[in-house]
Amino acid sequence: MEKEKKALFIIFGGTGDLARRKLYPSLYRLYKKGYLKDHFAVIGTARRPWSDEHYQSIVMETIESIQVSKEDAAEFASHFRYQSHNVNDTEHYDTLLTLAEELDEEYDLEQNRIFYLSMSPQFFGTISQHLKSQGLLTSSGFNRVVIEKPFGHDYESALELNDEITEAFDEDQLYRIDHYLGKEMVLNIPALRFGNHFLESVWNNNFISNVQITLSEDMGMGERGGYYDDSGALRDMVQNHVLQILALLAMEQPSSYSDEDIRSAKTTVLKALRTYDKENVLKNFVRGQYGPAESVPGYREEDKVAPDSQTETFVAGKVLVDTPRWEGVPFYVRTGKRMKEKVGRIDIEFKSNDSHFFQADVQNPLAANYLTINLAPEEGFSFQLNTKKAGPGMEPSQVALSHHYSKEEVDNNPEAYEKLILDCLNGDSTNFIHWDELAESWKYIDTIRKVWDEEEAEFPNYTAGSMGPHASDELLEKDGFRWIWNP
Ligand code: BG6
Repeated sequence: MEKEKKALFIIFGGTGDLARRKLYPSLYRLYKKGYLKDHFAVIGTARRPWSDEHYQSIVMETIESIQVSKEDAAEFASHFRYQSHNVNDTEHYDTLLTLAEELDEEYDLEQNRIFYLSMSPQFFGTISQHLKSQGLLTSSGFNRVVIEKPFGHDYESALELNDEITEAFDEDQLYRIDHYLGKEMVLNIPALRFGNHFLESVWNNNFISNVQITLSEDMGMGERGGYYDDSGALRDMVQNHVLQILALLAMEQPSSYSDEDIRSAKTTVLKALRTYDKENVLKNFVRGQYGPAESVPGYREEDKVAPDSQTETFVAGKVLVDTPRWEGVPFYVRTGKRMKEKVGRIDIEFKSNDSHFFQADVQNPLAANYLTINLAPEEGFSFQLNTKKAGPGMEPSQVALSHHYSKEEVDNNPEAYEKLILDCLNGDSTNFIHWDELAESWKYIDTIRKVWDEEEAEFPNYTAGSMGPHASDELLEKDGFRWIWNP
């Protein structure tokens, strides 16, 4: 396969935060690695009236910390054009088409187009329909659409949105992003499971007692209060990132590492999530909202957040997967803002072995083995084992077998967006979300949301900087477990 890819990117939301923080630096990295070279161009669109020069200077600013030289950055930015664009105005798509055709010619792009939708989802439908009706889809090159989250607000709105988009594009042209699927350690889950036979043979309810997924964040809202107050942690993190990680952990081995096989294995898991009735939602899901701490405001004091907001900034839940492999194994998940640390990790706890061989007692029990997969910021694995304490007798002691990637290795890994954009250029949708997965995950989330929306929550119920409300610990204690990661 030719390394260099030819494509025109048309970015809707070209002045936005995501474009600046993630897309332009990722495109630059692909450029430096030779995947993008002479034959690429980018059209940024947004409402504000910017000139090409101004846009190019903004693009250069976004890559300042990674650029090889100013000249190199300028050369890269020279491939960028700007169009002030009203997504509802048909004529604007006509000028966009003219510009796209010019760039196609100028850079010899072979009519390959990637439409990147990075703006409010309410516009996704109208944009897709206009792209089709105004002839922006080419007949000889590829036409792919990358869609940022949130994809809908619930199942119904996601379905409506999907119907609108699929009027213009086929499912295999859609690349719905979940940036967690671009993270090296998330992609390592199937590698670890299926690459190590001994692990796969214990990866079931005979050996595993429970699985814990934690995606905690220490930051508050920043400038995203407006979006977040409407969304909340359940929609913002659980519907997508958390359930995707869970699906990778719980899926059966796909027959190949291909988009169809992987996505269908994940869909099977998402379909098998046990749906709770009201009583069980209240029993098995905990919501929280942070209150103020010394130097940080509470959620309700954040910018663009309602002072009596009922939005949850924390979720913990016990998810059950109704497949023979996982019968009786709880998957505990938790995620939240303004928690103690920014950490992504998975802890898999194995059933304990009450071997009489050891002189274990209450002070010094024989511990359950557990495997930790560190997703971020540390990346690596560790396996907690029982050994004996040095000296006479057989007192148990725990040690870890671990491998963590060095900072240099982590820094050199391609960033999630870079990896996903390259996948899209290659037409590989393995690590993007299929509609079936999205539909199932929304249906699961909706049942929880519906119960919560009927009941007023007693918020705030955790202090900024803590590990969430006490009920999150109780959720595991009721089953005789505890959060393995408890800083
Ligand atoms: C996004 C959420 O999808 O993921 C944000 O909208 C969250 O609220 C972010 O902060 C977390 O991503 P990461 O890569 O920083 O863990």
